[in-house]
Parts: sequence; C-alpha cells; structure tokens
Amino acid sequence: MSRLVKEKDPVAALQALAALFPGEIVFSTSFGWEDQVISHMIFANDIPIKVFTLETGRLFPETYYVWNRTMEMYGQPIYAYYPDNNKLEAMVDAKGPSSFYESVANRKECCGIRKIEPLHRALRGNQCWITGIRAEQSANREDMSNVEWDEGNQIIKFHPIFSWTLDDVKAYIKQYNVPYNTLHDRGFPSIGCQPCTRAVQPGEDFRAGRWWWEDQSKKECGLHATQLNDLKE
Ligand code: ADX
Ligand code: SF4
Repeated sequence: MSRLVKEKDPVAALQALAALFPGEIVFSTSFGWEDQVISHMIFANDIPIKVFTLETGRLFPETYYVWNRTMEMYGQPIYAYYPDNNKLEAMVDAKGPSSFYESVANRKECCGIRKIEPLHRALRGNQCWITGIRAEQSANREDMSNVEWDEGNQIIKFHPIFSWTLDDVKAYIKQYNVPYNTLHDRGFPSIGCQPCTRAVQPGEDFRAGRWWWEDQSKKECGLHATQLNDLKE
C-alpha cells in the first residue's frame, strides 16, 4: 500500500487501488477542475472506480452543465446522492431556504443535511475514497498527506493529484481537452454551493470565496477529516 501510493503516476496508482479494492472504491466529484482531471483519468482509462457526486440542490447552473457534458463525453454513469428529504424539509420549514447565513451552527446544519449525511451513505461499504484535494488549496491541506485514514468514515482516503499545482491542473485540462466548469475562468478557484461560493480577488486565498462571511477558522464544510472534528464542536 505505501509503495503503491507513493507512485508518481496517478493513473497507475488509481489502477492499482482499483485492483486492490474491487467494487469497494469510489471517487467523489464536485465537478471542479481537479475533479475533472481525475474523472478523465478514471473514465478514459476504464478504471473500475464508482464516481459519485453530492447533489446538494444548491449547485451552480454551470456545475450542472459540466456534469451533463462529462456524462455525454465519456458515456459513463455519475451517481447522485441527494439529501434525506425529511431532514431537508424539516430544516427549510423551520428556518427558511437561506438559514446558513444566520449562524455557523445553521451553516453546519445545512452542510450536515445536504452533504455529510449523503456522503456517509455514499461511502458506506467501501474501503477506499478518492478525492481531488491538493496540498496548496489551504493551510489545513498542506499538513495533510496524499493518503490518510479517515476515522469518522472508517475508510482510506487517497488524493491522486495532491502535490499538483494549479498550473499542472490547467495544463492537463488543456492537453486532454477535459470539460471544465467555466466559473473557474471567472475568478472561482474553488466551487461549492451557489449561495456559499463567490469569486475571489487576484492574490486572495484559494478558499477565500467559500463561506466568505464566516471567521477563517470555520471555513470548511465537514466533508474532510479535519473538519469532521470541527463539526463535533
Ligand atoms: S469542501 O470541503 O470545501 O466542500 P472542496 O470543494 O475543497 O471541498 O473539494 C475537495 C474534494 O471534496 C473534491 O475534490 C471532491 O472529491 C470532494 N467534494 C467536494 N464537494 C463535493 C460534492 N458536492 N460532491 C462530491 N464530492 C465533493
Ligand atoms: Fe448548505 Fe451552503 Fe453547506 Fe451548501 S455549502 S450545504 S448551501 S451551507
């Protein structure tokens, strides 16, 4: 395992992991350009890894567009995980559709219902979870490693392009003509839900446009391990 994940070539590493965990390996895509690189690696090389997305119901129109284009281009399924409708209805009935702006607790409740619970369902029964995280995306992420044990989800996480720079990502997209979210050309380095993501100014942090109204230290949604602890606060 350790030899395998030190592998320089991400495609070879994905192939090796798919062989090690047949039917128990998944890739989560948000359709950001890092994820589009990995989807291309999986689909163009027919690597048996299930690709899924967390359909929060609050994504940008551009995200739905690139989702469609990706399915058309590769002719492969992308599995959608939706929030539990009872929990979602209860939250929106009580607090309205935009409660996340009102407090960090409300925002975490919304991320919990729209992302975290569906993520648990998507990961259940699997042994390996592939993501598009890169080290330079945030200070938190620089301290991570390309392979991790996610205690909360009891799963191995692998980030195949962890050490890539943004220029590496862009060069790959160009070289292989990979469809990508056009919001990236309009100042969005990181794209999540529409009401919680905005463009950043030149020189600003990659994640400055996510939950911009909150304190810096709170700005993660709970999908990834360091934030799971945060959720328990
Ligand atoms: S987040 O923690 O802020 O929401 P970010 O947008 O940086 O995550 O994306 C990091 C990785 O988390 C992506 O490469 C992808 O693997 C996963 N991810 C984020 N959002 C989603 C989503 N809506 N559906 C599936 N995977 C997602
Ligand atoms: Fe809700 Fe915003 Fe979290 Fe999306 S990012 S799940 S809209 S709080």
